[in-house]
This record gives sequence, C-alpha cells and structure tokens, in this order.
Amino acid sequence: MRRVPAGPVVARFPGRLIAGALRGNLVARPGGSIPGPIPCRPSLPIDPPPMTFSENVARLQPSATMAVSSLAKRLRAEGRDIIDLSAGEPDFDTPSWLVDAAVEGVRAGATRYTPAAGMPELRAAIARSLVARGADAAWNDVVVTAGAKQALFNACFTFFGPGDEVMIASPYWTSYPEMVTLSRAEPVFVQGPAERNFVLRPEDLEAARTGRTRGLIMCSPSNPTGAVYERDELAAVARWARDNDVRLINDEIYRHIHFAGAGTAPGLLELDPEDIGPFVLIDGVSKAFAMTGWRIGFSFCEGAGAKKMAAFQSHTTSNPATPSQLAALAAYGDVERSLADIAQMTEAYDRRQRLVVSLMRELLPELSFVEPGGAFYLFFRVDSACGPGEGSSDFCTRVLEEAGVALVPGSAFGDDRYARMSFATSDDLLSEAIRRMARVLGGG
Ligand SMILES: Cc1ncc(COP(=O)(O)O)c(C=O)c1O
Repeated sequence: MRRVPAGPVVARFPGRLIAGALRGNLVARPGGSIPGPIPCRPSLPIDPPPMTFSENVARLQPSATMAVSSLAKRLRAEGRDIIDLSAGEPDFDTPSWLVDAAVEGVRAGATRYTPAAGMPELRAAIARSLVARGADAAWNDVVVTAGAKQALFNACFTFFGPGDEVMIASPYWTSYPEMVTLSRAEPVFVQGPAERNFVLRPEDLEAARTGRTRGLIMCSPSNPTGAVYERDELAAVARWARDNDVRLINDEIYRHIHFAGAGTAPGLLELDPEDIGPFVLIDGVSKAFAMTGWRIGFSFCEGAGAKKMAAFQSHTTSNPATPSQLAALAAYGDVERSLADIAQMTEAYDRRQRLVVSLMRELLPELSFVEPGGAFYLFFRVDSACGPGEGSSDFCTRVLEEAGVALVPGSAFGDDRYARMSFATSDDLLSEAIRRMARVLGGG
C-alpha cells in the first residue's frame, strides 16, 4: 500500500491548483427545506477534461425518475399547484409510540455504535417475528440494515459477481438493475404477460435461464405494479429456483399492504420449507410502519450468508442509526400494537385503491391498468395517449405541465408503455388528480 504524507486538503485539477474552487453559494428555493445559503462549487471558467471513473460505476445510470421530479420541483417553485403522485412512501406519520421509543432511548444515552449487523435484541425480535411465520430463524440469521435498500445491495454484492447473470422480474423496482450492475453481474429482465399482471411462471424463467444464471430478484406485492403472487404462484417460482440452484431474493417490503382482506400477502415463509432453496428474504419497517426516513430494513438468510453480509456491512456503513433501531425494536417487540396500526393504514390504502380504480374506469376508460392487490401504486398503460415517437417520459412531462400531476414514467421500471401513480395520499387529492388528467387527456 502506498502511503501519502498528511497535509492540508486542496482542490487539484490536472496540472494546476484552482484557488477558491470550493467557494460559492447555493440559495435555498422557496418551500425547500434547506435553511439558508450553503457553500457549493461554482462552475469553472473553462471546461475541465472529462472525469474518468472506475469500472465499478462505469455503467451506473442516474434515476430515470429525476427529469420529471426536477420539473415538478421547478413548477412548484414557480407557484404552480402540483399534485405529487410520484412519491414511493406512505403519507402517514410514524406511530407516536415508536417515535417515543427512539426519543426516550436517545435521552437515556443510546447514542453510540451498536454491532454492525444491529442490536442483538432487535435481531432477536425480528427473528421471533419470522419464527411466528414458521421460519427456522435464529437471531444471527438476521442482519439489520439502513433500509431494505441496503439489505438488497448487501445481498447482491455478497452473492453475485463478474460473469453471473441475475434475473429480475420486470417491471421492476428501479434500483434492482443498478445493484446487480454495481456488483458487476449482468441483469436479465424477465417479464410475464400483461394479462397475467406480469406474474412469472417457471416456463418464463426457464426460457431466460443460462448456465450463468445465479439469482432471481422479485417483489410481491410489486412496486410498480401492485400485483401480488398467490401462494401457489410463488411456490412454483421458488421450486424452479431451488431446482436450478438460483438464489431467490424476495423483496417483501410491501407484504403488510395487501387488499385481499386476508392478512399479509404470501411470502417465502408462507411456503412449504421443502419448496425453498437458497434465498434471501428482504423486509423492513419503511412502508408498513410509515418509517421511510428512519432507515431500518433487514435481511434474513441462512447463517453463513448472514455472516458474510454482516461482514460486508461492517466495512461499508456499520450499524444503522441507533435511535432508529430502538424505534424498530418497539415495533417488532409489541406485535399486537404494531398490527393494529398497520391495519389502520392498510384500510386507508385499500379504500384509496378502490377510489382510484373506480375513477380511472369511469373517467379514463381507455387507459388499462393492473388492478393492485397490494402496495400503493397504480401502474397504467399510457402508450395509447402518446404521440408518434413519444414515450412514458413525454407523457408524464405533458401531464405534469398541463394537469399539474406528477407521475413516474414506466421507463424507470423497465416498461415504457406505462406510468406509475402512487395512491399514498388523500382521497381528495387523488380524485382531483384523476379529474385533471381526464380533462387534459380528453376523457372527462
Ligand atoms: C420494492 C422496494 N424495495 C425496497 C425499497 C427500499 O426500502 P427502504 O426505504 O426500506 O430502503 C423500496 C422503496 O421504495 C421499494 O419500493
């Protein structure tokens, strides 16, 4: 290892020192949350040579949702009345008793590191919740992470690498392909037919399998479609993965938000254990407990896999924030109280789902959609409303500019024929948004 002597930090560009390159000001936009001027880098008088990046990030793409969301911000800053249906998070506040658990913990001194894979008490409480679903789970099979996103990345980076192919059920949550690519493996998109709500069957997977297939990432209830795998459908996919030694990464983050009125959506632990081969189960508190900002998720995986993911995490981020772990400990520790809160929120999503489905059918009957069985998204087809050469981004830009409604283009999820609407907002705003869209698109 080469050692560089310690010294003052300078901003250096090829061949010369740029004095004052770090001086400048960014002024917060009205309505923004930045409190005042903060320093930022001004643009340079001459274009520096293009920066070169490592192979690790060579193929990394910025989120396809960025263009529409920055336009939405700009229009809002200009005083336009924008209804934002692009957010991927609950509109509810975190239940106050969970907030109290964190605040009381901090006041009592819980402000230090915990073990990298999370507090043993929290890992044990999560393991108990998995055992209650029939898993053979020990506390150290669980790794607590900074959101489900980190658990997913840990899993991809730990189990996949150069030369591997990882199947992704499409339409997909926008970060899955980037996580696979960052692990230097190859994403392979597999899509079931739209008439079956894109649900995959073993024959779809078999058609895409090669000798390099190592993993399958899927999500039920799905973001972006809201489709839910029935128990038998999930079991068939799990058996196919088991028989082909494909590691199944099942993202169950929306498990509790299920509209069939029969409790949670089926996940891996609702299957016969015989059906399951190598797996990583992903879950967390973000969606069900309205705790997106707290950043607590977890992975559950058999011992050696959990140990490796914990080791990886110990060298990247260490433990998720200690106060957040205390709030999650309260959530997993008092199952009855948690389930009561979750049921209340899910009832609201269920009501909004029915509202959105009936308004779309009434006011925009020409736009077909996946009827959501869970989560809080409506994935609807927009290609019939696009002009020649236009895609979902053009559609979303038009709806934003003309109707003041922010959606996410389907291209962000791997299907440019669609757009995604979040119904995690009030009934009044949802009705107003769909009426405005109908006016602009000529339906009502
Ligand atoms: C399918 C899916 N998985 C994982 C995540 C990430 O969850 P978290 O906020 O806990 O990192 C999201 C967030 O939108 C999601 O939609």
